[in-house]
Amino acid sequence: MKKKIALGFIALLVIIQFIRIDKTNPAIVKENDFISITNPPEHIQQMLKASCYDCHSNESTYPWYTNVAPISWWVKQHINEAREELNFSEWGTFNVKRQKHKLEEGAEMIEEGEMPMSSYTLIHDNAKLSDTQKAELIAWFKTEKEK
Ligand code: HEC
Repeated sequence: MKKKIALGFIALLVIIQFIRIDKTNPAIVKENDFISITNPPEHIQQMLKASCYDCHSNESTYPWYTNVAPISWWVKQHINEAREELNFSEWGTFNVKRQKHKLEEGAEMIEEGEMPMSSYTLIHDNAKLSDTQKAELIAWFKTEKEK
């Protein structure tokens, strides 16, 4: 019985590998990109790229484990949800009210330790933000909002 269940489980793992995720990134329009538009200082740009852009832009990268279901589905779902909430590649298409709101939310999310997601920083060491970096990024979001 136990053996049957184990075999069934392995068969299921094999079968789900055929359900692939779509890794094609939507086209990037440079004029609409958050960094291109706001032109932050270099260290802020680096933080945004390392800690936010994998999920919140059309520049997502897909490491090897995103070839393995169900991890791949889980990663893709995060990217889809993140882009829906805030896609930095489409910043130029947001109206001013939405931009200001997203800058405020961005600062809040970092302040509360919600972003970057802990499941992400667990695997991506370079995405971790020190307390100083967090303070810098929060301050920059706030200044940008006041513009
Ligand atoms: C691993 C993917 C991932 C990374 C990395 C990430 N986010 Fe998110 N983010 C999400 C997901 C998924 C959501 C939507 C669900 C939620 O709110 O938890 C979200 C939601 C948000 C929201 C909207 C929150 C709201 O109130 O609805 C903001 C703003 C945000 N993220 C900012 C950031 C910033 C800034 C960074 C970088 C410092 C970042 N995120 C890094 C996945 C990510």
